[in-house]
Amino acid sequence: MRKKIYECSECGFESPKWLGKCPQCESWNLFVEKNIGTLIKNRHKKIVNQPISIFESNNILEKSKRISTGVAEFDRVVGGGVIQGAAILIGGEPGIGKSTLVIQIAGLWAKNNGDVLYVHGEESFHQVRERAQRINAIQQNLFMSSSTDILEIIANIETNRYSLIIIDSIQSVSNPEINSLPGSITQVRECTYELVQKAKQLNIPMIIVGHITKEGYIAGPKVLEHIVDTVLYFEGEGKQSLRVLRAIKNRFGSTHEIGVFEMCCEGLKEITDPSAIFLQERPTGVSGSIVFPMIGGSRPLLVEIQSLVGKSRSPQPRRGVMGLNNQRVSLLIAILEKKAEIYLSDRDIFVNVAGGVFVEETAVDLPVVISMLSSFWDSPLGSDWIAFGEVGLAGEIRRVNSTRIRLNEITKFGFKTCIIPRIESSDLPEKSKNLRIISLDNIRELTQLFENREKSYE
Ligand code: TYD
Ligand code: MG
Repeated sequence: MRKKIYECSECGFESPKWLGKCPQCESWNLFVEKNIGTLIKNRHKKIVNQPISIFESNNILEKSKRISTGVAEFDRVVGGGVIQGAAILIGGEPGIGKSTLVIQIAGLWAKNNGDVLYVHGEESFHQVRERAQRINAIQQNLFMSSSTDILEIIANIETNRYSLIIIDSIQSVSNPEINSLPGSITQVRECTYELVQKAKQLNIPMIIVGHITKEGYIAGPKVLEHIVDTVLYFEGEGKQSLRVLRAIKNRFGSTHEIGVFEMCCEGLKEITDPSAIFLQERPTGVSGSIVFPMIGGSRPLLVEIQSLVGKSRSPQPRRGVMGLNNQRVSLLIAILEKKAEIYLSDRDIFVNVAGGVFVEETAVDLPVVISMLSSFWDSPLGSDWIAFGEVGLAGEIRRVNSTRIRLNEITKFGFKTCIIPRIESSDLPEKSKNLRIISLDNIRELTQLFENREKSYE
């Protein structure tokens, strides 16, 4: 017996009946019948994939050794190279540089490791070739295909033995047997599933490019996260040249590493010492700015936290947060009001991490609070000031991990004053002796610090 089910091809909402308007995304006339297959009648199936003892699995592990793509920053983010059969999805807004990154990888892989298939359904051959030429990726072993038909791509992969497959982008690939438009959620999901299955079966790594839009992630990587092994986001401020690659899911490594690139005329340049570049355009002597030593995976990174706190003209003050967790910032504002009696409810507040990095660590709490206070009182901090620490609900300033690593990075860049949670002086690294350390217990002490600075100006 076949059961019928209908699915919205825009957002994936499922319904047992056909609907004109989707209750989830409110689009019209996009419900299509979804084939959910026949119910299994015969439950006695032969075992095809015999379980293997974990003890005798060395030959399997051999298969999963890592291969370098030739782009060290990319290798770092995926966990030290690409694993055979791994499906990696790269998401990002249009124009951020995804195609540039993958053609660079394609060229280097073809040069060092073997045949690469690059499926460029999104752009014409000339466009891709012109780009490849500019960034020096023309290689004998790099094969280009303009196919957008998934069945043809699969046939190609099965016939020719490639050592890497790149699909740019998944939104341009479709299955003609599915009654849904290319780029729709149904097509994107089904095609990704087919491709990933094939990559696993043939044990070939695959890089899939997917667009995400500012408005929502519909038909983009969000719906594909559970199908692939690794999901990377490629981000950055459109007009600035800095680009950050980070993993938000990684079956083969941590999700804390970030890769930093600069977009130049010969493609993406790898930035091995990002702190210097993140601080490059930092203004001095302005209020609302302080530097935070974040831990981006295995290496520390210095990033600038900026705030703008101003009197609001509207009854509903505006709040804007970029590069940080929005709710966490709201929480910090609430803590400032309750525990330090700094009333911000009639202020427009904007907080930003310069350079397009996303900070997930709670150690950023203290610099965020400091930058907000600095802007609120219009009291600039010295350009050699830096801070890190978590802020608790009671207004207490709590210790965070990697204090030594952070302090070492700070001294490397010549910062002089550091605001941190209370800590034993024996815990401080040798190198930080020349730093003026201000350790605080709670945010009241922080507001006093600002008040005393004001006095010392008079
Ligand atoms: P692209 O890789 O096409 O972005 P995506 O695939 O994410 O849509 O790159 C987009 C921008 O990068 C484009 O505006 C031009 C710029 N760019 C450079 O600045 N230098 C280069 O060498 C290349 C190839 C692109
Ligand atoms: Mg592209």
